[in-house]
Amino acid sequence: MPFARLAAATTPTAHIGLGLAAVGRPGYITLGREADLPPSRSVEALRERTFELLDAAYASGVRYLDVARSYGRSEEYLADWLHARPDIRDVVVGSKWGYTYTAAWRTDAEGPHEVKDHSTAAYARQRAETAELLGDRLDLYQIHSVTPESPALTDKELHARLAALAAEGVTVGLSVSGPEQAAAIRAALAVTVDGEPLFRTVQATYNILETSAGPALAEAHDAGLTVLVKEGMANGRLAGADAPAALREVAGETGLGCDAVALAAVLREPWTGVVLSGAATSVQLVSNLHAAAVDLGAGQLERLAGLVEEPAAYWRHRSELPWH
Ligand SMILES: NC(=O)c1ccc[n+]([C@@H]2O[C@H](COP(=O)([O-])OP(=O)(O)OC[C@H]3O[C@@H](n4cnc5c(N)ncnc54)[C@H](OP(=O)(O)O)[C@@H]3O)[C@@H](O)[C@H]2O)c1
Repeated sequence: MPFARLAAATTPTAHIGLGLAAVGRPGYITLGREADLPPSRSVEALRERTFELLDAAYASGVRYLDVARSYGRSEEYLADWLHARPDIRDVVVGSKWGYTYTAAWRTDAEGPHEVKDHSTAAYARQRAETAELLGDRLDLYQIHSVTPESPALTDKELHARLAALAAEGVTVGLSVSGPEQAAAIRAALAVTVDGEPLFRTVQATYNILETSAGPALAEAHDAGLTVLVKEGMANGRLAGADAPAALREVAGETGLGCDAVALAAVLREPWTGVVLSGAATSVQLVSNLHAAAVDLGAGQLERLAGLVEEPAAYWRHRSELPWH
C-alpha cells in the first residue's frame, strides 16, 4: 500500500495533500480565480504555477499529490515535475479516470468543463493515457465521482480490469460526490472480486457545511480503506473573506485563517487519512498547511457544528457555482 509511505512520514503536514484541480486547466468552480491565477492562464503560465505549488508543498512536508484525467494538463504537469525532481521518491501520487476534459483550454466553454463516462471503454482509454504520462509513478487510480447509480458499482467486467490493475501494484480507489455520497461509499465497500474487497481508498467531500458522509467514511476507515477528503474548504466558501461569521470568529480566536480552521476540523476526524488543499497560490497553500497546528476546543467545535447545511441544499449550491 503506497499509503504506508504516509504513515512513515514524520512531517506535521504529511496528512495534508495537494490537489491540482485549480491549476491544471484555466476553468474551474472555485471562487476567487480572477484574483488568484496568473493574468494569462496559458499552458505555460499554469505549468509554472503548478511547479511553484508542488515545490512549496514538498518543501513544507506535503506527501500526497492528487490529479485527474479531467483536470486539464494536471497529470502532464505532475509528471514533468517528478521528472525534473528525480530525487523525490517519497510522495504518493493519485489520479482519477471517469471524466474527460472537454473545454479545450477555454474558460467560457458552455456548462461543466468535463464529461463523465464510467464505462470499461473509458477506463481502458484513460488508463492508457495516464500510463503514458505517469508510468510507474502512479500509486493510486480512482474512479472519479461515483454516485449510487454509477454503472461502475455493478460492472463485473470493469471490476475484473481494476482487480488486474491492483495485481500490477496500483492501488484502486474511488471518489464520490453528490448528496448520496454515503450510499455510494457503502455500495463500494460491498464490491468484491474473488472474495476480496476491490476498493482500498475512498475520496469524499466532507467539510463544516457538509458532514453527511462522515458515518460512512468511518465505516470505510474501519474496513481498512484510506480516507481522503476533498473540498474541505467547500470550494473556497470556507476560505475567503466571505466565510461564515462563526468560522471567522473561531479563526480569530486561533490567530489563523478560516481555511486552516476549516481543514483542521476535517483533520481531527479519527478516520481522516489525508485532507486535500486545493490551493491556487503558494500563499494559500502555506495558510492551508497551518491546519496541522490548529487544536480546536469543544466550544469552538460546537459553534462550527452549527454551520452544517442540508446535503441537498449544499450540493444544489455547489452545482450552481459557475465554471470560470
Ligand atoms: N470528485 C472528485 O474527485 C473531486 C472533486 C473536487 C475536488 N477534488 C480534489 O480535491 C482538491 C480540493 O478541492 P477543491 O479545490 O475543489 O476545493 P477546496 O479545497 O474546498 O477549495 C480550494 C479553493 O479554496 C480557495 N482558497 C484556499 N485557500 C484559500 C485562502 N487562504 N484564502 C482564500 N481562498 C482560499 C481557492 O480558490 P480561489 O483562489 O479560486 O478562491 C482554492 O482553489 C482538488 O484539487 C482535487 O484534487 C476531487
